[in-house]
Amino acid sequence: MYNEKVMKEFISPSNVGEVKNANAVGEVGNASCGDIMKISMRIENGIIEEVKFQTYGCAAAVATSSIATKMIKGKTIDEALAITNQEVVEELGGLPAQKIHCSVLAEGAIKAAIKNYLENYKMGNNA
Ligand code: FES
Repeated sequence: MYNEKVMKEFISPSNVGEVKNANAVGEVGNASCGDIMKISMRIENGIIEEVKFQTYGCAAAVATSSIATKMIKGKTIDEALAITNQEVVEELGGLPAQKIHCSVLAEGAIKAAIKNYLENYKMGNNA
């Protein structure tokens, strides 16, 4: 059902856990399956210096979380915001059609975390 790259990211995902001293945290859930993804980041000078995820979900959700964190690490906030779930799926070499909705979690969690950062920290508090 899954290609080799998806299986690799699922079996040994990168960036699992929680960033210490995170200044951006986003959590989203998928209403249809109940799965949840949480992303935490440390953003310095507009760059995502550190990013980790915790996913309570299916293999596709874990694989997309892992690859998405790798795609945004070291990127600017704007670059990370521009990443779509289609790009995440492409980076994984594709997902089965019935699993595409799982990739939306990663995009949503990234956007939620950056929104959290912009709302809470950007005004000179902690960034
Ligand atoms: Fe819930 Fe994949 S089935 S995220």
